[in-house]
Amino acid sequence: MVRYALACIALAGAAACGGSNAADKPAPPPSAKKASATSAPFGDLPNGPALTVYTLTNANGVEVRTIPYGAIVVSVRVPDKNGKFDDVLLGFDRIDGYAASHPYFGAVVCRYGNRIAKASFTLDGQQYALAANNGPNSLHGGVKGFDKKVWEAELFDRDGNVGVIYTITSPDGDEGYPGNLKAQVTYTLTTSNELTVEYEGSTDKATPINLTQHSYFNLAGEGRGDVLNHRLTIDASRYTPVDATLIPTGDYAAVENTPFDFRRPMAIGARIDADDEQLRHGGGYDHNWVLDRDRDGLVHAARLEEPTSGRMLDVSTTEPGIQFYAGNFLDGTIKGKSGHVYARRSGLCLETQHFPDSPNHSGFPSTILRPGEQYRSKTVFAFGVSK
Ligand code: BGC
Repeated sequence: MVRYALACIALAGAAACGGSNAADKPAPPPSAKKASATSAPFGDLPNGPALTVYTLTNANGVEVRTIPYGAIVVSVRVPDKNGKFDDVLLGFDRIDGYAASHPYFGAVVCRYGNRIAKASFTLDGQQYALAANNGPNSLHGGVKGFDKKVWEAELFDRDGNVGVIYTITSPDGDEGYPGNLKAQVTYTLTTSNELTVEYEGSTDKATPINLTQHSYFNLAGEGRGDVLNHRLTIDASRYTPVDATLIPTGDYAAVENTPFDFRRPMAIGARIDADDEQLRHGGGYDHNWVLDRDRDGLVHAARLEEPTSGRMLDVSTTEPGIQFYAGNFLDGTIKGKSGHVYARRSGLCLETQHFPDSPNHSGFPSTILRPGEQYRSKTVFAFGVSK
């Protein structure tokens, strides 16, 4: 077990600690590569501890980097149709970027992904007041959610699947939420170019919980323009409409004959600025789709395709919903990796989740975790190419 220590696990052979793949070069043949999980310094958190960056590499040369601050996924480097690798996540080169204010790049958001109306909910007859950090509402866990905390880390290897287990404990009353909550997030880079994210949690008092991953994808490569030419499919015939503060009204609306119908692959830009009240509320897509499930467990939720690079991303999840956020609030004020300016819609999020504001909607699937129960959720981001 490794906790915050510099460490190196070499799988199926020797791998150098702290190494990463050469930038922008076609991958060597798979046979020349070894899966590895390595660690290296990532700098000091301002007024906080020194941070480690964990680099997971599989035998195909796919590379995922992650830091224990916010359990943030810093980068994901995957090949395009010609074998050229690019980083497809928005983010920063250094810790100061992540430590400054930013819209949750790469982070795990918790205790509650997305909004809770008026930063308040009632559970078992008791009203709880949360930290309001988004107008009157609470967003992504409050002022200091898990995206701004340092998690404990442990590297592992399982037969060529390499990963990191992050754990954290949140005290009773943290950001207004009840119960001492223990949470765990496991990232695994598999031999077949999937990044799996497994969430677990337990509590000693009933509390809402809704963990999700807030990576911003641009499959052309971060810093390469907007995502409007990406084609998206979402396996959902309904979504949950919102009010002007992006709180669900509680209704389920059919996507049919609306700009929200992504049941067939559709360019994101095709209808994003349509004259539609729901799109006006979000400044574009920023909504929760209700996945069409014919069974429990892991089901396909969405596919993202970028036509120029040929890169594809398939998202599967055990969750009932997915928030497709088109990066509408990015406004060019953030300078990210290599000084790239992140303009409006230069990245998009596909956040698998229970529905926003569920603690205030009895008609939504419950997000309440009780003592003795185990919270479990799994999402798979599978990267590929179409030629
Ligand atoms: C929300 C957006 C928000 C963004 C960044 C998304 O999950 O739906 O409304 O702006 O996160 O905070």
